[in-house]
Amino acid sequence: MKGLFITFEGTDGAGKTTQMQRLAQRLQAQCRAVLLSREPGGCPIAEQIRTVLLDPQNMAMSPVTEALLYAAARSQHVYEVIRPALQRGDIVLCDRFLDSSLAYQAYGRGLGEDLVRRINEPALDGLQPDLTFYLALGAASSLRRSEKRSAPDRLELAGLDLQQKVSLAYGMLAQRESDRIVVVDAAQSIERIHEHIWQAVLRKTQGF
Ligand code: TYD
Repeated sequence: MKGLFITFEGTDGAGKTTQMQRLAQRLQAQCRAVLLSREPGGCPIAEQIRTVLLDPQNMAMSPVTEALLYAAARSQHVYEVIRPALQRGDIVLCDRFLDSSLAYQAYGRGLGEDLVRRINEPALDGLQPDLTFYLALGAASSLRRSEKRSAPDRLELAGLDLQQKVSLAYGMLAQRESDRIVVVDAAQSIERIHEHIWQAVLRKTQGF
C-alpha cells in the first residue's frame, strides 16, 4: 500500500489551514485515513525547532542557519511522521513543505535554489509531494490578513519585500512544475477554493 502526499503552499494568511481541514473532512467522510500535519513542526523535535525559527527575538539568525533549521525540522518530520503514514497507506495533508524553503529561503532570502536543494536533500530522502496546492494571494493582502490574526512572527516581520519575492517564486515554481503544483486563486470564497481543490484531488486519486 502506498499513501498519497498532498502539500499546501502560499504566503502567510492565504487560508491554507481552513482548506486543509475542509479537504480532510471530505476525505474522511469517504473513509480515507487522513493525517494532517504542518511545517516547520509536526512532531515534538520539529516543533522545538519551529519555536527557534519563529521567535521574533532571533532577528540575528543568518539565512543559512534559517535554511538548515527548516531542513532539520523537515528531516525529523519526514522520518517520524510522514514516511510512516505513507507506508500505512494514509493520505497526508501537510501545511508547507520543500516548496516553502525554495520560495522563502532560496528566493526570498536569496540563497539560491541550488544551495537550498542541497541542504534539503538528506532531509527529504527522496520524498516528493504527489500533489501541491499553491493558494495564490497578492503579497499585500496576504500580509494584511496575517496581521489581523496574531502578533507577527519573525518571518512576517521581514515585511512586504520578502512576501513579494516569495509570491514571485511560488508563481515560477508552479509554472515549472505544473503537473504537480495546482495554482488556486485564494481571493475566491472558501467554498469555491474547496471545490477547485476537491476536483484536483479526485483526478489524482482515480485508481488510488
Ligand atoms: P506559520 O505560522 O506556520 O505560517 P503560515 O500560517 O503562513 O503557514 O509559520 C511558518 C513560517 O515559516 C512562514 O512564514 C513560512 C516560513 N517557512 C519558511 O520560510 N521555510 C520553510 O521551509 C517553511 C516550512 C516555512
